[in-house]
Amino acid sequence: MSSHFSKTRRSFPITIREAGLKDLDEIYKIETECFAEEAFTRMQLEYCLRSPIFITLIAEVDNEAVGFIIGAIEYVNGKASGHIYTIDVKHKFRRMKVGSVLLKSLEKEFLRRGARRAVLEVRLDNTAAVALYLKHGYSQVRIVKDYYGSGLDAAIFEKNLQRNENAL
Ligand SMILES: CC(C)(COP(=O)(O)OP(=O)(O)OC[C@H]1O[C@@H](n2cnc3c(N)ncnc32)[C@H](O)[C@@H]1OP(=O)(O)O)[C@@H](O)C(=O)NCCC(=O)NCCS
Repeated sequence: MSSHFSKTRRSFPITIREAGLKDLDEIYKIETECFAEEAFTRMQLEYCLRSPIFITLIAEVDNEAVGFIIGAIEYVNGKASGHIYTIDVKHKFRRMKVGSVLLKSLEKEFLRRGARRAVLEVRLDNTAAVALYLKHGYSQVRIVKDYYGSGLDAAIFEKNLQRNENAL
């Protein structure tokens, strides 16, 4: 995957590139900044970075890692589907379109790898993430009670990537 530049409304360039094992420390630091509970462990993140199934993209501003996204291509009824596992942006870079650029870049990578649909689970009370997905054309398909523990429900979101291909 080649680097991708995007100018945000704050007009600084965001570079997106595929992450490698050398990024593990930074990615783990961002993950623990973003999630007190439910954070991926260092070992799980290392697994994602080593596995050819997972796609991990990192966002950089002035060579500083400011966020990342992890997805994978999975097969449902013989059809490739892109599954988004997490998206994390450092606090001080939020609401500057880093999450949007990461999401669009992963969607493009899903399409490139043959997926025509993206799916994800998100905690229903995660208002920032839910708003991000709605803004990017995802629809809530169902709720899974207690998915993240007692009283912590998940919303399952889906997007038809082909329908939105031109908008990417
Ligand atoms: C969710 C997250 C990735 C969003 O990243 P971001 O870079 O701030 O998102 P963007 O700047 O691209 O926001 C795009 C849109 O999403 C919505 N949005 C993002 N954060 C929001 C918030 N805190 N409240 C309401 N809407 C929000 C808005 O519609 C926003 O557009 P706007 O700024 O023009 O109003 C970020 O808040 C984060 O890292 N959260 C912690 C980790 C997490 O919960 N990840 C989701 C796991 S499923």
